[in-house]
Amino acid sequence: MTAIKTVLVAGASGYLGRYAVKEFKERGYQVRALVRDPEKIKTTGAHGEPAVYDMIDEIVIGDVTNPESIKGICKGVEIVFSALGLTAPHPKHTSDDVDYLGNKRILDQAISEKVSRFIYVSVFNQDKMPEIPSIKAHERFVADLKQSGLSWSVIRPNGYFSDMGRFFSMAQSGHIFMIGEGEKKINPIHGADLAKVCVDAIDGECREIPVGGPDIYSFRETMEMAFNACGKTPWITPLPYWLAEGGLMVTGLFNRNLADLFSFAIEALKFDHLAPAYGTRHLKDFFAGLAKKTH
Ligand SMILES: NC(=O)c1ccc[n+]([C@@H]2O[C@H](COP(=O)([O-])OP(=O)(O)OC[C@H]3O[C@@H](n4cnc5c(N)ncnc54)[C@H](OP(=O)(O)O)[C@@H]3O)[C@@H](O)[C@H]2O)c1
Repeated sequence: MTAIKTVLVAGASGYLGRYAVKEFKERGYQVRALVRDPEKIKTTGAHGEPAVYDMIDEIVIGDVTNPESIKGICKGVEIVFSALGLTAPHPKHTSDDVDYLGNKRILDQAISEKVSRFIYVSVFNQDKMPEIPSIKAHERFVADLKQSGLSWSVIRPNGYFSDMGRFFSMAQSGHIFMIGEGEKKINPIHGADLAKVCVDAIDGECREIPVGGPDIYSFRETMEMAFNACGKTPWITPLPYWLAEGGLMVTGLFNRNLADLFSFAIEALKFDHLAPAYGTRHLKDFFAGLAKKTH
């Protein structure tokens, strides 16, 4: 009989993290989850990600910016999976504090405990945006992970359905300001499909895995689809890049952290994000699900 393995899921309350908890659990793993607020995972998330509280074997309440709160987190763990990252502006913390240093604190413990695999979720097209603060922080961590001596996988997703869900919320308001002409293309992926790729990455050689979903759309098409799903006529106003970047500079004078996170959103719209296709779930159905929930 093979022993049950324990996985630490960091970022277990997030969009991808919750699907990862579910996927690990369904494949028979013992799940330890790092969360800041266990109440949050008792209900379904904003983009349909599952309530996972009852699937978790052991909850650790901690914040990676507070080293004491995550002490001993890798004890007895065979696999670490981290989808932990800063995706919304924080008044105090930067991408470097969370994506880099926070994950590094987990990595240091994983090294001491000699975990057998560390799976980290970074981003796709990182080479095209090397100066964007969140990319820099992710890639600093990836470099350390590769040097760690541990067995590793780096997942490089191009965009989640939850990101496209933001277009849905804007479409509901009746209007979207779009940066650029929206002609660049992306094949985003559903969290459940991505979680399967992440868990599959446990085995085999150390590798980077670029990953997207099954359907390719231009950014404009995804916005139009969002309007259609909520039964509204598309009303999209393109904004030139120079205006968005000017706005970013002004924002940076008052709120550096907000400007740093927005810089990714603006830069990412400048080129295609076409990654190898995985999964079976479609964006159109995802939008239809959001529309049903809000009616
Ligand atoms: N969204 C995309 O399209 C996309 C594409 C490629 C890569 N990625 C990367 O994939 C990762 C996961 O993305 P996601 O969309 O699932 O993000 P998400 O929903 O915002 O989840 C982020 C997770 O990190 C946790 N976290 C943040 N700061 C923390 C801290 N100081 N201490 C402990 N936990 C903390 C959050 O906890 P709380 O719930 O308490 O906030 C949450 O569980 C991120 O690193 C992101 O950069 C995202």
